[in-house]
Amino acid sequence: MKKKILVLTGGGDCPGLNAVIRAIVKSAHNDGSYEVFGSIEAFNGIIADPVEIVKLTPQKVGGIHVKGGTIIKTTNKGNPLKFPFKNKNGLITYKDISKDLVKKIQKLNFDAVVNIGGDGSQAISYELYKKGLNIIGVPKTIDNDLSATDVTFGFSTAVQIATDAFDKLVTTASSHNRVMILEVMGRDAGWIALHTAIAGGAEICLIPEIKFNIQSLVKTINKRYKKGRGFVNIVIAEGAKIDEKVVGRNEKGDHNIKLGGIGNVLRRQLEEAGCQADVRVAVLGHIQRGGTPVAYDRILATAFGARAFELIKKGKYGRMVTLSNNTVSDTSLKKAISDYNYVNKRHYLIKTAKQIGISFGQ
Ligand code: F6P
Repeated sequence: MKKKILVLTGGGDCPGLNAVIRAIVKSAHNDGSYEVFGSIEAFNGIIADPVEIVKLTPQKVGGIHVKGGTIIKTTNKGNPLKFPFKNKNGLITYKDISKDLVKKIQKLNFDAVVNIGGDGSQAISYELYKKGLNIIGVPKTIDNDLSATDVTFGFSTAVQIATDAFDKLVTTASSHNRVMILEVMGRDAGWIALHTAIAGGAEICLIPEIKFNIQSLVKTINKRYKKGRGFVNIVIAEGAKIDEKVVGRNEKGDHNIKLGGIGNVLRRQLEEAGCQADVRVAVLGHIQRGGTPVAYDRILATAFGARAFELIKKGKYGRMVTLSNNTVSDTSLKKAISDYNYVNKRHYLIKTAKQIGISFGQ
């Protein structure tokens, strides 16, 4: 009888998820001793009664590496450590159902689980591993905020999308002598903003890791204008702070704070501080997470999926796949979730940006 692998995708989606799924299914098929199943909407597919699980065959995953999103769906509302229930008064309460979840997965005869997700999902993986589940993590996020891996798939695609948008904003900023603010994602890390600013050639880059000052921004902007003519392009990360982080809309049952709106706060503050030029804001939002992954992300995601299968073959559980020093590797889940990957102020790209005249608003 063949061994059974369960694959799931949790948290926000990200270009490259399908390429990981395909690589696991193909590796398992070519090995011959495993079959692969997908749990719909992360662990919710297992928690559901009846369960929502699909068999993933090579036919089913043919060509999906090119597609954005995830064929097995995802959610950020299915944390088994804090699972939402409605009590008899109709109010939502949270319960840790992880023990029962592990038992259910084992009862369904799954030999191994691959959890493809960001830091929140990998924290769940680690808890389930401690409760006896044979689990492996595969890191995903457009934010590149996982410190255990040099880079995550999805990040390059997000940077490409943001850079394409930035390039378009440059031409309109220039025609109208305007200041254009592009707000990009990235949560508490400024990676997408920093890469976009360098790739696009921004005048100003504002990230959560570097404190900036409105007066000095106005000075930098005004210097670029001669008799009312000139233009400035600013990239700002959603997690950048003026006084504090700007929180967007939060949905019921979602534990993650949603950022968003700093671009418009910055516009108002620049105007109040005497910025003479017209300021416009573009918030890129989820466009950064959609569509087809760039080649690099497809390749990295495929290598991650293949490594996950290798770890299963070796029975090395409680690990997360990584890219380390340009080679695919793995680390313990415990270590993987221990640090957040902030932009280090001494990072070579900060130095590069400063050297070519990009201002961080200090
Ligand atoms: O972590 C990926 C990410 O896209 C962040 O950049 C962003 O802050 C967040 O997810 C948005 O989450 P949601 O899809 O729940 O709105």
